Amino acid sequence: MLSYLHSFHAGNFADVLKHSISIHILQYLGEKPKPFFYLDTHAGVGAFSLTKGESQKTQEYLNGIAKLWNLSPAEQAKLAPLTGNYLQLIQRFNESESLQTYPGSPWFAMELMNQPDRLNLFELHPREFKTLLTNIRGDRRIKAFQKDGFHACLSQLPPKERRGYVLMDPPYEVKQDYDTAVESLIAAHKKFATGTYALWYPVVDRYRIKKLEKAFINSGVKNIQLFELGIQDEREPGMTASGMIVINPPWTLMKAAKQALPPLAILLAGKNGSFRCEQLVAE
Ligand SMILES: C[S@@+](CC[C@H](N)C(=O)[O-])C[C@H]1O[C@@H](n2cnc3c(N)ncnc32)[C@H](O)[C@@H]1O
Repeated sequence: MLSYLHSFHAGNFADVLKHSISIHILQYLGEKPKPFFYLDTHAGVGAFSLTKGESQKTQEYLNGIAKLWNLSPAEQAKLAPLTGNYLQLIQRFNESESLQTYPGSPWFAMELMNQPDRLNLFELHPREFKTLLTNIRGDRRIKAFQKDGFHACLSQLPPKERRGYVLMDPPYEVKQDYDTAVESLIAAHKKFATGTYALWYPVVDRYRIKKLEKAFINSGVKNIQLFELGIQDEREPGMTASGMIVINPPWTLMKAAKQALPPLAILLAGKNGSFRCEQLVAE
């Protein structure tokens, strides 16, 4: 199908959650002086303009990153570390007083990984892949593949480093993506059981998410956590919330998310804001 373009959605409330959690995982792995491997199954283009093109048509970033960017310095200093670390990286990426651009998931890994670390990126869309190649140009740690990330990622596992993080961020253009994502992660976990995995999901139809959670609960995979951030009543149409399901999370993640998500939900959506921080499957 391949009609989804993330540039319409860059920096929205879903990206705030996805990238905050992803950054925490990358920072945790980067603390040890040992190399690790990053695999992005649906990498996108790596960088997005917020001042022109698709993002100006939807302006979704106004309900996401812009709400953090526009806080006063005193308010920003009071943000929970999970949120504050995320905002600092967006500020670093922009290198300007105003919010103009937004980084994609590969950039966070490029920024937070050390010199010997390795990154593998998968992006299937021909034009998006070309732009991705331009955006990662010159970084020798990266290999990018124009392949189906759900299946092709398996050939890269287990990584020789024996430490790694796999981010799976599908577009869910086709409903089959929900089942394919679970199957792919379970297969990846079989090959590399000690890796950390994160799956992003949208809440458009709660029934699908309940089914997704059940599939993980019944998978036999241990130590799974779930984080969700909502900005609208679920009876409203469209994406009202989104979440991350994390297998083998850093032991620090639950505490950091429990501190960050309640105030973040209020900041982004006032009384309509909601959050979940749950241990879906015990260790
Ligand atoms: C949600 S976007 C990714 C956003 C990116 N992870 C980020 O956070 O900046 C999903 C991307 O997956 C790509 N895509 C769709 N199907 C794919 C597949 N089977 N394998 C790899 N990439 C795919 C789309 O072209 C799109 O760029």
